[in-house]
Amino acid sequence: MSIHLSPEQIDSYRRDGFLCPIPVMSPVDANHHRTSLENVQASHPELMEGVAAQKLHLVTSWMADIIRTPTILDAVESLIGPNLLCWSSTLFVKPPDGKAFVSWHQDGNYWGLDNPEVATAWLALTPATSKNGCMRMIPGSHEWEASAHIETFANDNLLSRGQVMAREIDDAAAVDLILAPGEISLHHVNVAHASEPNRSTESRIGIAIRYISPRVRQNRGNTDSATLVRGTDSIGNFQHEERPSRDFAPDAMAQLARVVECRVSSVYQDMPK
Ligand code: NI
Repeated sequence: MSIHLSPEQIDSYRRDGFLCPIPVMSPVDANHHRTSLENVQASHPELMEGVAAQKLHLVTSWMADIIRTPTILDAVESLIGPNLLCWSSTLFVKPPDGKAFVSWHQDGNYWGLDNPEVATAWLALTPATSKNGCMRMIPGSHEWEASAHIETFANDNLLSRGQVMAREIDDAAAVDLILAPGEISLHHVNVAHASEPNRSTESRIGIAIRYISPRVRQNRGNTDSATLVRGTDSIGNFQHEERPSRDFAPDAMAQLARVVECRVSSVYQDMPK
């Protein structure tokens, strides 16, 4: 199955800054991924937070496979071209506590990536609904002028800095990105998005996979790394990461430690310890 986007879908993405839902795997496969995630949660809880939780594809074959899912790459290729690096694979597990939320923000504001050839594929491993706190987006906001963000470091905010856009957001204009397990949404690096607390009785689980073109450069700090998942990289703006030979292999864990250290000293250099 190939799922390159249709011209209509590409137009819709360019107009709104997001597109959904796009089926990329069966609900059964999505559920297998959920089980694998829960296994990591049980065996290596320390990898489920901070920068490590953005890079599990370096230490588990499970996530190494997810970021190379051909149907996901087909869709992303339709937006940012045939050469693709995976910059991160961030877990978003939102417990049914009615508290954890994500404030209105634009990813491009703080990632340090110097051009918008960046697309996020958000893969649902459970349903993502209005009730359990799916992502919400403002159509067309990727075209807004860059907005200042205020860093709140609020406890229940799932964002690393608790950042919130300084400009007023018209909540009534927001669209809920409702997904079934095995579906993705795609969003532009500058689209304004947020999500409400999970008011259901089950966790809402998704993985935000960030893809970039090799033409993108990192402006925060000197070095950054990414995994080449399709095509070629003749530019070399990012150090290339290796796929793990097996789950939690010592050399893979050592690579993860180096990559985490590198990102902490670049993208997250001004974070409080
Ligand atoms: Ni975001």
